[in-house]
Amino acid sequence: MEAMIKIKDICKGYDVGNERLEVLKSINLEVEKGDYLAILGPSGSGKSTLMNIIGCMDVADSGEYFLNSLPIHETKEKNLTKIRNSEIGFIFQKYHLIPTYTVMQNIIMPLLVRGKSHTQAEEECKDTIEMLGLDKRLKHKPSELSGGQQQRVAIARALVGNPAILLADEPTGALDRNTGKEVLALFNKLNEMGNTIIMITHDLTVAEHAKRIVRIIDGEMFE
Ligand SMILES: Nc1ncnc2c1ncn2[C@@H]1O[C@H](COP(=O)(O)OP(=O)(O)OP(=O)(O)O)[C@@H](O)[C@H]1O
Ligand SMILES: [Mg+2]
Repeated sequence: MEAMIKIKDICKGYDVGNERLEVLKSINLEVEKGDYLAILGPSGSGKSTLMNIIGCMDVADSGEYFLNSLPIHETKEKNLTKIRNSEIGFIFQKYHLIPTYTVMQNIIMPLLVRGKSHTQAEEECKDTIEMLGLDKRLKHKPSELSGGQQQRVAIARALVGNPAILLADEPTGALDRNTGKEVLALFNKLNEMGNTIIMITHDLTVAEHAKRIVRIIDGEMFE
């Protein structure tokens, strides 16, 4: 069977002033369905750049990227938005919740974007909300929650659309040690339930929670 993610010789650079900065240098990576991969690397090594490409938020300069056999490198921006909405669940270090929305409104957002009604969306989120222990917080605004709770809301929002992959960029970076551990325990549970997870981190002890670790150093990848 084809890997869910197949990345071949991906390069990405930026023009900074009159210099060229090569950020990703011929990256190769395969991720199977049900895998839990950590991408480990120091600051500035290209982790977020790679995550943005995997998440169809940015495109590589060269190379091939297949997601569920779809050639993403040949896909037009309009269709990339669609793929992003249906296939990718994002979790960020700083949660990225909408501050003026309640917890419930934040969580159902991806379903509203897909054209579902409020009632239908709220119904579909019930199990996820319960699993994440957010049932008593649905009317709160993000600012009224602890960091760990805000991250759980972000995880719920990433999960409700039932994406092919969960992409997490430093998901424990803003959390204290114990709350970070809770989030990592949750990732292990989600992976056991069949979710495919790619987590980016600079912290080896965080990466060790994954099934598989790849390192990215100065734009090059080592398994
Ligand atoms: N839009 C951009 N324009 C120019 N340079 C960029 C741009 N985005 C990233 N870079 C550069 O690319 C390199 C890699 O950045 P990236 O954000 O991928 O690193 P990272 O591994 O995620 O780092 P961190 O752990 O600090 O988040 C850095 O040197 C950064 O300055
Ligand atoms: Mg980063």
